[in-house]
Order: sequence, then structure tokens, then C-alpha cells
Amino acid sequence: MAIAAGCAVALAACAGTPGALPAVGSDAQVTPIPSQFGRRVQGQVMPAPAAVADVDCHQVKCVALTFDDGPGPQTARLLSSLARYGARATFFVVGQNAVTHPDLVRAERFAGHDVGNHSWSHPDLTRLSPTAVARQLTRTDDAIRRATGETATLVRPPYGAVDTVVRRQAGRPVILWDVDPQDWKLRDVAEVVSAVVDAVKPGDIVLLHDIRPSMVAAVPAILRSLRERGYHCVTVSRLMAGTPLLAGRSYRRNAALRHGS
Ligand code: NI
Repeated sequence: MAIAAGCAVALAACAGTPGALPAVGSDAQVTPIPSQFGRRVQGQVMPAPAAVADVDCHQVKCVALTFDDGPGPQTARLLSSLARYGARATFFVVGQNAVTHPDLVRAERFAGHDVGNHSWSHPDLTRLSPTAVARQLTRTDDAIRRATGETATLVRPPYGAVDTVVRRQAGRPVILWDVDPQDWKLRDVAEVVSAVVDAVKPGDIVLLHDIRPSMVAAVPAILRSLRERGYHCVTVSRLMAGTPLLAGRSYRRNAALRHGS
């Protein structure tokens, strides 16, 4: 499946505008009960997605920050930091968390971020039967669709564990990563920042987690530091724009963007 096909289905961001998003409040499918965290998000002034200019990653240095395993208690704070720095990111959500916080998933998408499928309960999919893998993905697809009105076009399997069965059941591009600062190990903000900023190169995909307070606390410093180095933080679909993404294939960095490194 080429990215162009994916755009037609769901990814407004890869079309260069989030204009395809349903208006807030107009989608009867969205769960109307906001969580505590969702209320916090809604109480903040979120910039209109169009206010963040889309960039051409063939012209400027780009990096794709990805946040796995949420949404959770830290996600609202993270969304605020991303908005403050005009940064876009990709959230690979766990289905059971998306069901608990559908308003946060909706807020992620409304802010122009990509929302991808990270399974229902975060198992190693390579240890499951094909039927169980399919169930993990379809339940999460349903949760994302109920929250955003869109179908996720990107999949990230937990632990990056993929095999033939997982690729086939994903039926979409499988997105892995290039930089893993192992944020679950690092407690100090400065350590997390340097683990990301010192390792990153143009076109890279960075693995982070929005369920870890120390990680989310480090995001403003990461964004500031990346900006000082001339990086633009974009969604995975934006990073990969112009590169055909095929269903069942795994992807890491966009190697075409290694200019200036
Ligand atoms: Ni994960």
C-alpha cells in the first residue's frame, strides 16, 4: 500500500493539511465522557492544527518522534509541550488505553499528530496465533476509529517483534525505529535529552514512551535542543512522504533524508 493510498483512508497529515479531520463534537461515534486527563487537555488552549506549518523534509532536517504505550496520565502534558514547540509526533497507542482515554486519542489526532496501532494489550505478537494477532490489531483499530473517526494506517508491534504472521496480519506498513534512548532506564532529564539528541540524524525515527513521567518531563528540553540543531519534528507519514510504504513491510529511517548529516 502506497502512502498515497493511506492518505485517502486516514492520514490527513500526509496530505499536508489536517483539513480532513472531523470537527470536534460533530462525530456521534466519539465517546462523550471525557476522562480527567481529557478534561485537562480540553481546558488548555490548543493551537489550530493549521497554525503549524508542514515542512518539506527534503529541504530541511526532519526527525520523527514516536510515543508508544499511551495514552495515559502524562499524555495531556506531552500534547501541551508539542503544541508549544510547534512539533508534530506519532502516537502508537495501546488499544485498551485508547478505550480508557478516547478523548486523548482524539486530541492527539486533532493536533495534527499521527495515531498508529500498537496492539490491544501489548503482548509479543510473534508468540500468538494468527487469529489472536488479528484480534489484537482489530480491537485497537476499532478503539482508534471510535475516538478519531479514522482508521490507523501505521502499525508498530510491541517490542518491535515481527514475523511473517505479524506482517501479514498488520496489512499495513510496520514502523520500527532508529534511535532508542531506553527512556525506561533513564531517570534524569539531562540523560534522556542527550540520549536522544546526541544519537539522532536527519530522517531518523525515535522511540519514546508517553507513559513515563521522566520521559515526558524531558520533552521540552529535547524539542528545544533539536530546534537549536535545526531539526523539525514531524509525523512518521510526513517523514516518509514521497517514499512508497508497502503493507507488511518494516520501515525505519527515511534514508533519502540523510542530507546535511
Ligand atoms: Ni510498547
